[in-house]
Parts: sequence; structure tokens; C-alpha cells
Amino acid sequence: MTSMKSIVTSVTVPKLSDPSLFRQEAFINNNWVSKTETFAVEDPATGEQIGTVPDMGIEETRQAIDVAADSFKNWSRTTGKERHDLLKKWYDAIMANQEDLATILTWENGKTLTEARGEIAYGASFYEWFAEEAVRMYGTTIPSPMPGQRYLTIKQPVGPVGIILPFNFPTAMLTRKVGAALAAGCTVVIKPGAEVPYSALALCELAKRVGIPAGVINVITSEKHVADVGKELCTNPAIKKISFTGSTAVGKLLMSQSAGTMKKLSMELGGNAPFIVFDDADLDAAVDGALASKFRGTGQTCVCANRIYVQRGIYNQFAEKLAAKVGQFKVGHGFDPKTTHGPLINSRAVEKVQRHLDDAVQKGAKVIVGGNALGGNFFEPTVVTGMTNDMTIANEETFGPIAGLFAFDTEEEIIQRANNTPFGLAAYFYSRDVGRVWRVSEQLETGMVGANSGIISSCYAPFGGVKESGLGREGSLHGIDDYVHIKYINMGGIQ
Ligand code: SIN
Repeated sequence: MTSMKSIVTSVTVPKLSDPSLFRQEAFINNNWVSKTETFAVEDPATGEQIGTVPDMGIEETRQAIDVAADSFKNWSRTTGKERHDLLKKWYDAIMANQEDLATILTWENGKTLTEARGEIAYGASFYEWFAEEAVRMYGTTIPSPMPGQRYLTIKQPVGPVGIILPFNFPTAMLTRKVGAALAAGCTVVIKPGAEVPYSALALCELAKRVGIPAGVINVITSEKHVADVGKELCTNPAIKKISFTGSTAVGKLLMSQSAGTMKKLSMELGGNAPFIVFDDADLDAAVDGALASKFRGTGQTCVCANRIYVQRGIYNQFAEKLAAKVGQFKVGHGFDPKTTHGPLINSRAVEKVQRHLDDAVQKGAKVIVGGNALGGNFFEPTVVTGMTNDMTIANEETFGPIAGLFAFDTEEEIIQRANNTPFGLAAYFYSRDVGRVWRVSEQLETGMVGANSGIISSCYAPFGGVKESGLGREGSLHGIDDYVHIKYINMGGIQ
């Protein structure tokens, strides 16, 4: 077994050029709101406290919902052009503060500063994109079968939206939802991941500066009362839609809580992405695609490759090439320029990765690089061969840096194995046969397919899953539709 050296380091947090972007209060009606009950937020790389934020509950959530409902009256009547201009200004403000925002992101989430800068640009792109969609919320005219009537449709914002966010993309998951919501004319109450509130709060500071009206964006921070906050958002009749990114189990709970008020739902839930390498693939491209897909965010994305299937004839070659590159990764603090991969978010994440690895090894898999917990929240990027269908990794999303390689023989077999999961978010495959590229793309039961690409996320393209990976699409020309109703107007009495 090859091992790699970690360079877990203690680093100095870079100074923010604009320290006022670091806010330690919640944000309701354009006011910074504190509370005596707070919770601590820690740097996942060191365990050191970054700061505190209010631990809010039902009462503050109701206040935020009331504010969002009140401000919806005016915001929903603004023109698309007004919303365009404000979203564009917010985009510009984010990009002007990219370095500070990336610093806050790395500090609370752990990903490297390079990845964090990328996330800020990716996140901001949703505001640019949805600014441009705000002015294109077209309705339709329908040829009427009745001589005295005219039929048309208009799109209208659904109302105040409850947004519940994960820890892994503290900026981009917020902007992907809020961009679409605001462009459509909705107001929002956001609950950021308890581990990563500061990125969301920094965005609120910028929103206020660029003139987004009071009450349009509200952020409730919560840790101990998170279940109550979620339930309030899902059951309060003033909230008309829930947009959630997180686990399938929590998604199902929120969905059932939302049923009583029949809310519109966007659910970006768990995945179990297959990554298939056929023997006609460009092997080096496939290795690079697997590295990008598997180890982005230290394996903590819902579109990460979870099951890497390699056709038997090229299996050993692929494993060697992948292991050689993974062996060069440097694990450490996200602020250390030498670091390629940061820590996992917390000890529960480390325990899960360890459990998945132990299960695989105990059932006969072999670690060919990595394989060790490094203390704290660090875990070595790992490659494991000899994976089989009975192992936990085959059936459960690891959300960590283990690349488990399974062998397969035929196209028919691998389509069946790839689809043999309740999840259907993303799938990837590498092949240079154009007929196969079409066949496999069409047969994979997922919302997104990377055919010869390991990174598929873009504001231009629809992000979302099928089966138990969720409902709705984010980004793209479809993203705004999740935040509108289509109203049909029948104009009669026409002579
Ligand atoms: C996610 O992991 O939820 C999102 C990943 C992405 O936007 O690429």
C-alpha cells in the first residue's frame, strides 16, 4: 500500500481588505439582528473558533417570513429591468470583493483558496445569468378556438420562498437559488448551513450596499433549532415555495412537511454518481475527469463520482494512472498555497469516510494509495481497487475522498449496474465511440450526464436530478420556471 504525506498546517488567516464583510448577526429586513443565544462556527481545518452567530428559532423565522411576505408586495411589482439592474449590481459587487469572499469561504468551509475563488465566480455567474433572465419572463399567446375570446399566459412569481442550504457550496448554492427567485420577483428567507453562515451573511452585506430593498433577502442562522426553523418554513402558509439542497432523507421530511400547504418544491438531493470508463476511452482524459469529478471539494459535492466503473481490459492501467496522480495531492489547510485538498467539514464526515473504507477493505478491496485519517477533519485522498456491488460505497454516497474502482465487462451490464440505485443526479462516462456516446447518454437514469467530461456544473445548464435525487432544475433558461406560476388569462367579449 502506498501512503502519502499530509501537510496539515496551521496558517494565518489572510486579512480581509474589507473587514465589514464579516458579519456575525442574522439579517432580517436589512437589519443585522443579534440574540443572546449564539453558536460557534469553527474552521474545519483547525477546529479553532471563527466567531459566533445567533441561534435562531421559530420566533425569528416567523419574523423573517412576515418581512419577506410584506416586501413581496412591492418586489413582485418591480419590472424585470429593475430586477435585472439590481442583480447585475450584486454580481459586480461580488466580483469586486472576490478575494475577501473567497477568504471567508475557505475559512468556514475548508476548501482551498483556489477552489473558493472559483466558487465565488461560479456563484456570481448565477446573478449575471438570472439578471438576464429577469427581462425574459415571457408569456405566450394561444390561438383561440372561440371567435370572441383571446387566450394568453403570463408568468408570475410564486411568492416568498424558504431556502435551506448545505455546507459544501456556501456561496454558489445560495446564488443559484436566490438569483432565480429574485429574478422572478420572489422574496426569500434563507437558512444557511450551520457550519458556513458567514458567506451568506457577506452576500447580504453586499446586497444591502447595492440597494436590494429591505425584506427581499433575509437570513436566519440556526444550529440547535434547525429542525424547528425548517419546519416553520415548510408549514407557514406565507411561504409559497421551498428550495432545498441536501440529503434525500431531509428532502423527504421537508417535502412531507410542505404537503399541508401544497408548496412548490425544488429539491436538489443526494446522488450516487457512476463514472464509467469504456476501453475505447482516451485514458488520460478519463483519469483527469475522474480526478476532477471525484475529488472536487475533497469529495464533498452531490455530483462527485461515487462508483468508478472501469472496463476490465484497461482496469489496471487506469488504476495505476489514477493512483499516481492522487499520490501527488497535498492535504492541508485551504489557506496554504501548497494544499490541493482541504479537510472534510466535520468529524461525522470523517467517520463516514472511514466506515465506507473499512467496509470495502473488510469485503476484499485493496487500498492502492492513501487510506488514512490524518487527524482532525483530514482524510487522505484514497484509491481502492477490487470494489464489488455488495460494498457500502456501491450503494451509499460517501461524500469524501475515496475513489473506489469496480471492474465491468459489457456496455449492457454497466448500464444496468449504473442505474441500479434509487438516486439519479449525475453520471459520467468516457468513450470515443459516437454511437455509444448517444446510447449511454440516453440510457443513464440521471438528470445530468458528463459524456467525456468530469465537471458539468454551469449557470448556463440545468442542474437537477431524477428518481430520489430530487425535483426541479436550477440555473439555465429553466431555472426561473421553478419560481413562477403560469397564469392563463381568457379575454372574452371581443366583438
Ligand atoms: C452540489 O454539490 O450540491 C452542487 C455541485 C455543483 O453545483 O457543482
